[in-house]
Amino acid sequence: MKRILLLSLIFGIAFLGACSQNDNKMNDMDQSSMEHEMDDDMMEEHMDHDDEVSLNDSTGKNELKIPKELEQDEKSKEIVYTVKAQKGETEIFDGIQTDTIGYNGAFLGPMLRFDKGDTVKIKTINELDEETTFHWHGLEVAGAADGGPHSALQPGEEKVIEFKVDQEAATLWFHPHPDGQTSEQVYNGLAGLIYIEDENSKSLGLPNEYGQNDIPLIFQDRTFDDEKQLNYDAAMNDDGTIGDTLLINGTLNPKLTVKKEKVRLRLLNGSNARNYTFKLNSGDSFTQVATDGGFLNEPVTLEEITLTPSERAEIVVDFSSLDTLDDLALIDEEGSILLPFDVSEQGGKEEEIPEEMNQFTITEEEKNLPVTKEVELFGMMDKVTINGKKFDPERIDFTQEQGVTEVWEIYNKPDEMGGMIHPFHIHGTQFKILSRNGKEPSKNEQGWKDTISVEPDETVKVAVQFQHKGVYMFHCHILEHEDNGMMGQIKVE
Ligand code: C2O
Ligand code: CU
Ligand code: CU
Repeated sequence: MKRILLLSLIFGIAFLGACSQNDNKMNDMDQSSMEHEMDDDMMEEHMDHDDEVSLNDSTGKNELKIPKELEQDEKSKEIVYTVKAQKGETEIFDGIQTDTIGYNGAFLGPMLRFDKGDTVKIKTINELDEETTFHWHGLEVAGAADGGPHSALQPGEEKVIEFKVDQEAATLWFHPHPDGQTSEQVYNGLAGLIYIEDENSKSLGLPNEYGQNDIPLIFQDRTFDDEKQLNYDAAMNDDGTIGDTLLINGTLNPKLTVKKEKVRLRLLNGSNARNYTFKLNSGDSFTQVATDGGFLNEPVTLEEITLTPSERAEIVVDFSSLDTLDDLALIDEEGSILLPFDVSEQGGKEEEIPEEMNQFTITEEEKNLPVTKEVELFGMMDKVTINGKKFDPERIDFTQEQGVTEVWEIYNKPDEMGGMIHPFHIHGTQFKILSRNGKEPSKNEQGWKDTISVEPDETVKVAVQFQHKGVYMFHCHILEHEDNGMMGQIKVE
């Protein structure tokens, strides 16, 4: 992020400098810059955009809230859930009610746990005053159940969807996807978790006591106004809305109390636009065990990990082996304290992280496939496009055959300011990263992904296969970019 900001600054200064010194003799660069009608306002906002709004440190005043696990409607052979989008009020700040929206509650949503092989029915209900959809991010389901912008539920409407869970254990999430309104609805509180379990996840011996040593962490930055309300219109930035206040699972100033044991943290960047680079303030390393869509083959030791919006990673922190436990915290790249840990004297389970966790492979055949889909990400603010076009619900951009692997090449074309990272997401599939700028992806990206960060001027090749049919979205997961039309559609037949 810093690098891009710097690049933007250099470009910006060079541009301004060239303009003032050299009014008559315009060189090529000036001309091309002028052709794009970059007005000062836009430049300023763009330069302002990146993550330079630092996060306030968490004081650790409040114990982290853990989303409830959603119970099935009845214990029967059928697996039936009800998920309702509704309005409410939430006491985020002591003694103050903030207007929020949530699933089956006032703010955020429950965790839905599926087993691989389950046939799941979900009754979705819209109790908001506006249309919404129920999108299952990362789930491999038919287009009709995917909850894209075509599947809007009007206020008061309900709809039952059904699908079979046929993918490996992973941490996924769900959120709304109404055309043009996604960012505001997510910002105001609509987001929930999905855990998929399978034989492998149950037998690996990784920490799996929900809320004890298996902790979901949904990171969302927000701006609260003087009345401590979420005023989306006031906070909104076309290049991605960011805020100075971090909520984790909706908790302000969170802390997490843990035992001296290995703890699995399921990180979800649920923010509209902010990127996070997570690390421990002690400098200690941790172990990544899973990507967006499943376990890594082998654990990967890291000192930091970056997640762009909607990306997930499961990491294990071994609190029994750290030297200093005082003032231990999860921090970001700027050193802001995100989550202080309160490590009790109590020991816990002694589990080993297995050396072999999965059998994720990229075949020679996949490596040698020609590129058959090209995606060019470009622009900023409300001028964002994919392949030069904005989203049109009436237009199908690509078609692909069900069960056939194709290689997509995603290129982030820089602009005069240098450009910015776009997190690129495809619905209805988990895909494989073949290369980044021609090179093998890092070890911790050699696993199933549904969203990837694409840096300015970077080309990423991915192998994509859809298990089901239907129309799916692909888009930038900076939610304001998505709402501004940085989205296309693929029809799988
Ligand atoms: Cu999180 Cu269109 O998705
Ligand atoms: Cu999605
Ligand atoms: Cu974008």
